[in-house]
Amino acid sequence: RRAVLLGATAAGAASFAPSALGRMPLSRDTLPKSAPVRRLTLSAAEMEVPLLGPDKPKTSGFCAYNGTPFLTWRVPVGTRLLVDFENRLPNPTTVHWHGIRVPYLSDGVAPLTQQPIPAGGRFSYDVPLPDPGFYFFHPHCDETGQVGRGLFALLLVDDPAEARLGFDLEHIIAVKDWRLDADGRWLPIFTDEGASTAGTFGTVRATNGSVIPPRVEAPAYGDVRLRVIVADSTRTIEFGCETGDAAIIAVDGQALTPLPLSKLPDEVWRMGPAMRLDVHVRMPGPGEEVKIFDYRTAEPYLLTTLVAVDKGKKQTPFKPIALPAAKAPLPDVRRAKKLDFIVQTSAGATAIAPPLPPEDPLAKALIDSFCVGDKTFWAINRTSWGAGADLRLPPPLDILKDGDSYRLTITNVTKHVHPMHLHGHVFRVLSSTRKTSIPPYLADTVMTEPNETVEIAFKANSGDWVFHCHILEHMDAGLMGWFRVA
Ligand code: C2O
Ligand code: CU
Repeated sequence: RRAVLLGATAAGAASFAPSALGRMPLSRDTLPKSAPVRRLTLSAAEMEVPLLGPDKPKTSGFCAYNGTPFLTWRVPVGTRLLVDFENRLPNPTTVHWHGIRVPYLSDGVAPLTQQPIPAGGRFSYDVPLPDPGFYFFHPHCDETGQVGRGLFALLLVDDPAEARLGFDLEHIIAVKDWRLDADGRWLPIFTDEGASTAGTFGTVRATNGSVIPPRVEAPAYGDVRLRVIVADSTRTIEFGCETGDAAIIAVDGQALTPLPLSKLPDEVWRMGPAMRLDVHVRMPGPGEEVKIFDYRTAEPYLLTTLVAVDKGKKQTPFKPIALPAAKAPLPDVRRAKKLDFIVQTSAGATAIAPPLPPEDPLAKALIDSFCVGDKTFWAINRTSWGAGADLRLPPPLDILKDGDSYRLTITNVTKHVHPMHLHGHVFRVLSSTRKTSIPPYLADTVMTEPNETVEIAFKANSGDWVFHCHILEHMDAGLMGWFRVA
């Protein structure tokens, strides 16, 4: 249906119809047919919540899954989720399983892999979970507006072997600001000024939805596993903590050789929107605290305080706990084909075609669904994702071969940071022109700083996959492209 719509509207224009490339094979199933299946229902709806704090006016129009802000699902690795989704929002939406190697037709990207799910509509997602780790899911249709008003959920995929690693406590830190006036009403979440610069920031900072930084008790001398996520649409943080006894043990859910925070420049890890970290923190003695900060702001922002309580544990030397090695497919870096991408402003980018007339059925469907921004400020290799009335897909950034390995250089020639995310794959971060001391690691989103070139490599998996900045206004303002892997 998509192919027909796009094909029909492409007549006479230079825009791109996926049907021109023929039928797509389904992506390779990442789980055996015998994998245990779990059927879950999911809905998205608006609700009223006290975002400004207990004695302040409540905020209506908050968006949540299953009526639960910060909904968290925990599932054993190797499970296949069959998710029956119902859209109870007044607007169209989709669900994207961020970082998970799903079949591309369950990737949730409107209009590339599915049409927007209208208000009251349903969609079934097939979500195999081949890799343990810390993931999340969120809409891929009006992301700026819906994620901005709270719509995302956390997904922890557990490896049973991790139960024996000896952590005393696990705790999630979700960074998410709210853009509200003093009466708890939403302020505009997409602004042209923000979308064309660093993004529109919230007015209220919060951790796990609370404007008061949480205090969490943990056993003195115990081992805490922090799961940290920047769920904000805009904010980049510099994660750090007050103790030297801390090490990063996974990035974007993928285990790495423990990386002590003390070995990093300024002892912080930069995290843009969508990025996750697992951090092992060793607690100090009874009564002492470990404060966790975002050091990026001039005045460090307290995210959470861990409070050590006596549980009879004895002090032992700190040794970071290594997670079982990540199992995602690795690229053959030496044989990989090199591709270069420039992240730039849209000034000078070539328009792919004259805009669609607004009465065109595809234009109408997408405009009504808020699935596109209405301005274009950014581009990848001089091509912007459609915005406003120009709603057709741009041509793919490249056509890749299923099973082959690719090395991508991503060069940011803008004045702002861009956390770049590739769907459907876990990639290796090989190098950066700004960081010299970091060993290669796996991720699904990588930060690119102004004038930085980052190199990543991955083994291509069949499907149609977008590649975009996870500052959601940037993505809605053109900073997105797609690969076909066939
Ligand atoms: Cu978090 Cu395109 O996704
Ligand atoms: Cu960006």
